[in-house]
Amino acid sequence: MRLDGKVCLITGAGSGIGQATVERFAQEGAIVVAVDINADAAQMTQETIESAGGHCLGLGVDVSDEEQVMGAIADTVQKFGRLDILFNNAGISVLKPIIETTEADLDKLLGVNLKGVFFGCKHGINQMLTQGGGTIINTASELGIVGQPLYSAYCATKGGVLALTRALAAEWSAQNIRINAICPGPIDTPMIHAEFNLSNDPMAEEKAAVSTIPAGRLGKPDDIARVALFLATSDADFVHGAAIVADGGKTII
Ligand SMILES: NC(=O)c1ccc[n+]([C@@H]2O[C@H](COP(=O)([O-])OP(=O)(O)OC[C@H]3O[C@@H](n4cnc5c(N)ncnc54)[C@H](O)[C@@H]3O)[C@@H](O)[C@H]2O)c1
Repeated sequence: MRLDGKVCLITGAGSGIGQATVERFAQEGAIVVAVDINADAAQMTQETIESAGGHCLGLGVDVSDEEQVMGAIADTVQKFGRLDILFNNAGISVLKPIIETTEADLDKLLGVNLKGVFFGCKHGINQMLTQGGGTIINTASELGIVGQPLYSAYCATKGGVLALTRALAAEWSAQNIRINAICPGPIDTPMIHAEFNLSNDPMAEEKAAVSTIPAGRLGKPDDIARVALFLATSDADFVHGAAIVADGGKTII
């Protein structure tokens, strides 16, 4: 029970990495607010956790809307008294050559992947200052570090998340607020399967993706949830502004 009684808010909690992290954190004794733009998915996450005996509140929230992010944090504090751990994980992808990427595509990606993280950090830090500290984890991507064709807009947002994480760690570490990022490689979630399905041969696409990973497999959502758990606990007390890469070795070759 490494998070016994800790109050956590996790975004993108209705699917993939976010959902696995809600499950992992709840197993470790946390009270988890599970936020997702898909309110039904957030509710299902809540029901899954409650049926396993854990504590969870599902909320339908669009992280690209500052008022809604502020509201989710206010609801968390009103109901559970504080916010110890914030995991800004919600994200979306668009695969297009830049010459086909519209301003609307870019605005949407920036809104969720970068502004959503910015708003979470802004209002999370504001709350953590009133309670003497806390920790924030942001989901970036290995594609915030290396490039990949068709991902220019996505890479730009994830590089932004890494820069934001470093800047905020420099700004707030002295106030007992630890802020770090995770850079997942290809993880077996609905997001990556939606990307494979854009191809005429999704199976071949998946095989090609796996061939770029020295570990020889896609990551599992819980591979990332366990990295988030490490960053959320006092084991990571001296880890500030880091970008932890969890990619089966993809970026080392
Ligand atoms: N799957 C991968 O291979 C991979 C690799 C690197 C990074 N990531 C990042 O990991 C994070 C989670 O991705 P995933 O693979 O679990 O994807 P996913 O699609 O399985 O889950 C993402 C969740 O975010 C929610 N969401 C989307 N827009 C939102 C919004 N505006 N407000 C609130 N919730 C919103 C979706 O409804 C969904 O439930 C994302 O930031 C993604 O960019 C994923």
